[in-house]
Amino acid sequence: MRILSGVQSSGKLHLGNYFGAIKQFIDLQHQGDAFYFIANLHALTTVRDGVRLRELTRDVAVDFLALGLDPAKATLFRQSDVPEVTELFWVLSALTPMGLLERAHSFKDKTARGIAPDLGLFSYPVLMAADILIYGSDVVPVGRDQVQHLEMTRDIATKFNLAFVPKWDPKDPEGVKSGVPGILKLPRAMVQESSAVVPGLDGQKMSKSYGNAIDLFDEDKPTQKRIMGIKSDSTPLEAPKDRDSTPIYALLKLFASPTDMAEIDRTFDEGGKGWGHYKQQLAELFFATFGEARKRRKELAADDAAVEKVLVEGAERARAAAAPIMAQVRRATGIVVAAR
Ligand code: ADP
Ligand code: TRP
Repeated sequence: MRILSGVQSSGKLHLGNYFGAIKQFIDLQHQGDAFYFIANLHALTTVRDGVRLRELTRDVAVDFLALGLDPAKATLFRQSDVPEVTELFWVLSALTPMGLLERAHSFKDKTARGIAPDLGLFSYPVLMAADILIYGSDVVPVGRDQVQHLEMTRDIATKFNLAFVPKWDPKDPEGVKSGVPGILKLPRAMVQESSAVVPGLDGQKMSKSYGNAIDLFDEDKPTQKRIMGIKSDSTPLEAPKDRDSTPIYALLKLFASPTDMAEIDRTFDEGGKGWGHYKQQLAELFFATFGEARKRRKELAADDAAVEKVLVEGAERARAAAAPIMAQVRRATGIVVAAR
């Protein structure tokens, strides 16, 4: 089973990225042939500073390794180190209806927030489809906000197979009955429902672009300060607490053991603990959970060569996996001369 996912190198990783996506990636590396990449080409739609993009890309690699990605089990690479991806992107864009892209939530959300749209932002889901389809991915672990992109990927792959694979049957995409599998395999999204949307300091979805994130690898002091600054209401210490009035309960739930959670539930119902107490508990859980990774990150960050080696070896494996599928695409579309 090929498991694949990517994270953009457009900023520092935060708790939402971890619980919504990266934790699953790390857990899944034991269950299949996992490919994880740093989507630096996608990040170009927001980062327009070469020095910074290079730094952010390396930072994501270091973060993944610190969080437990094992390069002997999973393949970690930079998106741009597999140039076939942009070739497939073009082939797929020739098949993608404008209407499909116009319906993308991510595009609509960004333009609604006043971001001037460019072709890169508009075609973002097509590049994502190429990322997924080029490795014959079966399962794509992502946060809930990416599910629509997976549906678009399936639509695009279907269009490709219908156009270029004679007798391919969309009702039997793997060709179990017909003996005619598609060239591009239809992937499925995998969403961790329990942490599908991690709230930020203000209760909105945590996102680096909303300024409401708790970063995984910020220094201790500012991290503690941010956690203590989580929005809370004026419910007095002795009164029962509303689980939905602040993001605190949802955040505690991500970390706390079932026993701790039972105690938190009890005091939320009965009162007796102030918001400050829960924030302090959250800070302690945060440092206990990420302490090891935070320490490891410092060591890894000092060893550029080792990180680069992981990425270069990862790219070799990824290119080897992409090559046979891309060769079939070139043959079927006629963009190579000989039907080799
Ligand atoms: P951001 O919104 O901060 O820009 P990205 O869009 O780069 O984050 O997301 C990277 C991954 O992390 C995606 O798989 C996404 O679904 C997941 N993710 C991001 N924010 C959250 C969140 N608040 N809750 C759950 N998952 C999230
Ligand atoms: N769009 C994804 C995000 O913002 C990142 C991404 C790019 C991705 N290509 C992908 C995720 C392919 C999964 C598969 O999080």
